[in-house]
Amino acid sequence: MAFDIEMIKKVYENMPARVDKAREIVGHPLTLSEKILYSHLWENMPSQKFERSKDYVDFAPDRVACQDATAQMALLQFMHAGKSKVAVPTTVHCDHLIQAKVGAEKDLAVANTQSREVFDFLSSVSNKYGIGFWKPGAGIIHQIVLENYAFPGGMMIGTDSHTVNAGGLGMLAIGVGGADAVDVMSGMAWELKFPKLIGVKLTGKLSGWTAPKDVILKVADILTVKGGTGAIVEYFGEGATSMSCTGKGTICNMGAEIGATTSTFGYDDSMRRYLAATGRKDVVEAADKVADYLTADAEVYANPEKYFDELIEINLSELEPHINGPFTPDRGTPVSKMKEEAIANEWPLKVEWGLIGSCTNSSYEDMSRAASIVEQAVAHCITPKAEFGINPGSEQIRYTIERDGIIETFEKMGTKVFTNACGPCIGQWDREGAEKNEKNTIVHSFNRNFSKRADGNPNTHAFVTSPEMVAALAISGRLDFNPLTDTLLNDKGEEVKLVAPTGDELPKRGFDVDDPGYQAPAADGSGIEVVVSPDSQRLQLLDPFQPWDGKNITGAKLLIKAEGKCTTDHISMAGPWLRFRGHLDNISNNMLIGAVNFFNKETNKVKNQLTGTYGEVPAVQREYKAAGIPSIVVGDQNYGEGSSREHAAMEPRHLGVRAVLVKSFARIHETNLKKQGMLGLTFANEADYDKIQEDDTINFLDLTEFAPGKPLSLEFVHSDGSKDIILANHTYNDSQIAWFKAGSALNLIAADAEG
Ligand code: F3S
Repeated sequence: MAFDIEMIKKVYENMPARVDKAREIVGHPLTLSEKILYSHLWENMPSQKFERSKDYVDFAPDRVACQDATAQMALLQFMHAGKSKVAVPTTVHCDHLIQAKVGAEKDLAVANTQSREVFDFLSSVSNKYGIGFWKPGAGIIHQIVLENYAFPGGMMIGTDSHTVNAGGLGMLAIGVGGADAVDVMSGMAWELKFPKLIGVKLTGKLSGWTAPKDVILKVADILTVKGGTGAIVEYFGEGATSMSCTGKGTICNMGAEIGATTSTFGYDDSMRRYLAATGRKDVVEAADKVADYLTADAEVYANPEKYFDELIEINLSELEPHINGPFTPDRGTPVSKMKEEAIANEWPLKVEWGLIGSCTNSSYEDMSRAASIVEQAVAHCITPKAEFGINPGSEQIRYTIERDGIIETFEKMGTKVFTNACGPCIGQWDREGAEKNEKNTIVHSFNRNFSKRADGNPNTHAFVTSPEMVAALAISGRLDFNPLTDTLLNDKGEEVKLVAPTGDELPKRGFDVDDPGYQAPAADGSGIEVVVSPDSQRLQLLDPFQPWDGKNITGAKLLIKAEGKCTTDHISMAGPWLRFRGHLDNISNNMLIGAVNFFNKETNKVKNQLTGTYGEVPAVQREYKAAGIPSIVVGDQNYGEGSSREHAAMEPRHLGVRAVLVKSFARIHETNLKKQGMLGLTFANEADYDKIQEDDTINFLDLTEFAPGKPLSLEFVHSDGSKDIILANHTYNDSQIAWFKAGSALNLIAADAEG
């Protein structure tokens, strides 16, 4: 569990000279984001100014974290890279593969049986290659990282899009695909397009029912799910310093929901308090020595419009609690407007479930504030109208809130305490009756609320709000309940008005835990054998993808023209499919089954051009593959938004899709396609999307001249013999083109290791 104080000291030792040099080269005062970026260059000392949103830059992150669903493929790939130990401190966290059903104890026992093979695999690979391993039930990756590993001014990557949570402790923490993690674990540079910078100035102070969650719900409403694409969001101002470190974590966590590369805050007293409370006073001592380097230069926050590409200002004193959703986290509704919005949109007003916790809102402050609402309900004899569940973020949090009587308070309301794991947040929720697909409303304090995400029911309207608002709405059983103005009827028929939540930022008696669930790696792992059964349905050793044959791709069929939102959940669905994350062939049977076919508006039903019949997407694609026919996928805006799962890129690659042509990409997915040797292309003219027809055959005309900055020409031959030449842009640089040529980035790493 050791948090590598020596590594952290080294980062701080190097920081002043590198930041000073960067300031000199860049020629203006620096934001915090720039300080962290320029002090983590692969080349160590900065030697040139990078252009935002343009230059690809090699970085040297300080650490890596992987969750169990993505770690399987990442570690399978790492094993393939021929190294004896990870090059930077790395941890693996078992949190996604645990279903929530009846409660922690039984659910965890079931997971330990059902996923034993996977947990054992992750444990033994971790043990062998010097990786810290967090067992099932220990907690959710981002909460554990915040509690143990995040540090101001650091840079980390993680194979989960909510890695960004660590920005709450002043890090630049970025969600990546497993292939990127493999690069860094293998001692290679990690490449990122130098981000643009969005400043968010927080004035005023939170009070009453308004929580840090409302800041990001408001930002999501302003910026939308695309607004943060390619950007780091840097928060500052009196409103930032006045809120808790864990509240900052919540805000950074949901930066993933606006597509931001990451989000961060400058080092302040809230971070000192949190570091000290989590046993890291030596990090505070080390950070204090370079405190000026762990926040922006004073001039930046004095005149932010000069230094950020975009600036947003939010007055926390005027901010109302928000309830975002359904089906997208950027549809923000202030609580005072919910009644009219819900009625106008025919959202079910009855709240069936309230869920709190997850990696987004599991702090002591969150739990104690939500509990203060539950206490009032209990004291005033109000029987809650909805069911209530908690997914604590870590065993440390669970143990501490149990010790302090907070769990007991929740249990008075009949709350189910699920395992310290993702559970309902990732579709791992065996919710009674969900299979009936009835229209219903749930409220939760998680981050995502895409269709089917929580319980697999497309008619579940999930709304995201703060834990205290979840508690209030679940108690009232009404989506249109406004605790600031409305009263509730108690069991005696009396009207009761809830008072605003109260809670402690940190536990007065400190954090406590009996068994945190950590396994340190072996000092020498060379003798440890990692076994994968060839008959396994869950794990499959990888075969390298075929290199490019040097020719234009011709005669390709259109597999699907996806319409509208196509997230990584649509491309590689989670829920029950999570169990196949380590088995590429098996999981490929979920490829694009959630995407809407433009031509018939249905999911998982596309035309098989070989037979003229309609079939399921993976089945049709397997027929093209068997016939040796390449295919391409066409998509809409922000294709691949959502998570970092590289399966969404590996599955089409495995099944023989050669290119994905879309109006625009989500960053991580675009990179993942490149890593797997796929062609990720965008329409030079978005209107060309309309020219694509169901029976199209596609020929690349100039792939043989594939070069940075040079668009590719694709010929679409329609069934009536007419043709359209469509120009496709791309963002491949020279090394990414080398990945394409080699068949994948991993093929290049393995070749280097051999060499
Ligand atoms: Fe897990 Fe949901 Fe967070 S899936 S890592 S709790 S976003």
